[in-house]
Amino acid sequence: MKITVIGLGYIGLPTAVMFAKNGVDVVGYDVNKKVLTALNQGEIIIEEPGLKELVKEVVNNKKLRGVNEIGESDVFIVSVPTPINEDKTANMKYVKQATESVSKHIKKGDIFVLESTSPPGTIEEIILPILSKTGLNIGEDIFVAYSPERVLPGRVIQELVENDRLIGGVNEKSAQKVKEVYSVFVKGNIYLTDSKTAEMCKLMENTYRDVNIALANELAITCEEMGINAWEVIELSNKHPRVNIHQPGPGVGGHCLAVDPWFIVEKQKEGEIIRMSREINDDMPIHVLKTLKNILKNKKAKIAILGISYKPNIDDMRESPIIKLIDMILEKTNYRLSIHDPYVSKFNTKIEDIMVDSVEEAVEGADIMVLGVNHDKYRDLDFDKIADLMNVKHIYDTRNFLDQQMLEKLGFEVTLLGRG
Ligand SMILES: NC(=O)c1ccc[n+]([C@@H]2O[C@H](COP(=O)([O-])OP(=O)(O)OC[C@H]3O[C@@H](n4cnc5c(N)ncnc54)[C@H](O)[C@@H]3O)[C@@H](O)[C@H]2O)c1
Repeated sequence: MKITVIGLGYIGLPTAVMFAKNGVDVVGYDVNKKVLTALNQGEIIIEEPGLKELVKEVVNNKKLRGVNEIGESDVFIVSVPTPINEDKTANMKYVKQATESVSKHIKKGDIFVLESTSPPGTIEEIILPILSKTGLNIGEDIFVAYSPERVLPGRVIQELVENDRLIGGVNEKSAQKVKEVYSVFVKGNIYLTDSKTAEMCKLMENTYRDVNIALANELAITCEEMGINAWEVIELSNKHPRVNIHQPGPGVGGHCLAVDPWFIVEKQKEGEIIRMSREINDDMPIHVLKTLKNILKNKKAKIAILGISYKPNIDDMRESPIIKLIDMILEKTNYRLSIHDPYVSKFNTKIEDIMVDSVEEAVEGADIMVLGVNHDKYRDLDFDKIADLMNVKHIYDTRNFLDQQMLEKLGFEVTLLGRG
C-alpha cells in the first residue's frame, strides 16, 4: 500500500509518520517547499514532542519522503488548513485545491480521506463534485470518507494511536476500506458512520465545550451583578452527580474551540445557542476591560498583564482573548500597559515594545495586575516583592488561580472574575 498525505502540518506530518513507522510506504506533499526540504533531510519545522525523532527514523528507513508533486497512490489523505474567513465562514480554498490535485491522479480502487475540520456537508458538496469529474464511480470505483482528527497538541503522537477514531464514509464500503487503512496504527476503537455525521461530530465536540464555557461565563457575569461568587456556585453545583458546569474566564481562544462552532453556524437555518455562545465568549475581553475601567479612576493608570497565550503553559497565541484585551486597551484607552509571559518570545508578537522579561519589571509602578493566563509558573510568584513594586496593590484574577487569602494578608485588594 502506498499512501500520499497532502498537507504536512501539525496533523498531516504525524499521521504520515505513524503510517511510515508501521511499514507503509508514505509520500508527503505540501505547497510549502520549506516543509519538504526539511522533511527530506529528516528535519521538521514545527514543534511537537517526539515527532522529530520519528521523522528522522522513517526518513532514514526510506518509508517517508517529501514530493514536489502528487502522483499515483493507493490512498490519499488530505490534511490541509481550513481557516476562518472574516465573515466567520470556513475558508475551503485549500481543501478544494488539494482535492483538485488528487483528482488528476486518483484511479480505480483508490481511497480518498479528508481529515481537515470542515463544515457538515463538505464531502457531499465540495469533495464529491470534484472527484466525480474523473468519471469514476464514487463508492464503487473509488472510496471516499471523512475522518476527523481529535488529537491534543503536545500529545499528538500518543493520541493518534490511542484515541478512538471516527470514519464517515460516503457508503459502507468506503467506511470499511478506510477503517482497514487506519487500523495499521490506531489502537483505539474505530467507529463507522456517514460522512456528514462524522463532520458534525468533530465540530460538535468543540462546540459542546464552547457552549458550556459560555454558560459558565454568563453565570460569572450574572453573579458579579448579584453579589454572588460564581466559583462557589460552580463548586457546589458540581457536587450534583449529573452536573458539570465549566470554568468561566476572560474568553475562549485557540484554533479549534474559538473557530469550529462557526462552521456549524454557517450551515444552520435555525438555531441560536451556538452562535450566541461564541458571541458571549468573544465578548469576555470586553467584560474584563469594563471591570478594569470601573476599578481604575486614573485614565493613565498602568496595567500589568501576566499571561497572553490562549491556554496555560504554552506559547500559542492563536485567537487568544488576552491579545484581544490588549488590542482594545491600546486602541480605546490611554492606560499604560506592561505585558509578561514566560512562554512567549516578544519577537513573535506585535506588542514587542510593551513586553518585558520579568514579572517584576511588568508590575513596577502598576496600578493593577491582571492575571490573564494561569501558567503554573505564576503560582509561586514572590508576591511580597510584587507588593513593594506596585503603585497600588490590586490584583484582578480572571482565572481564580491565585491564593486570595495569602494575597489579602499581604495587603492586596483582589478582584475575581465571577465574584460579585
Ligand atoms: N492542529 C490541531 O491541533 C488540529 C486538531 C484537529 C483538527 N485540525 C484540523 O486539521 C487541519 C490541518 O491542521 P494543521 O494544524 O495540521 O494545519 P497546519 O497549518 O499545521 O498544516 C497544514 C499544511 O498544509 C499545507 N497546505 C496548504 N494548502 C495546501 C495544498 N493545497 N496542498 C498541499 N499542502 C497544503 C500548508 O503549507 C501546511 O504545511 C485543519 O483543518 C485543522 O482545523 C487541527
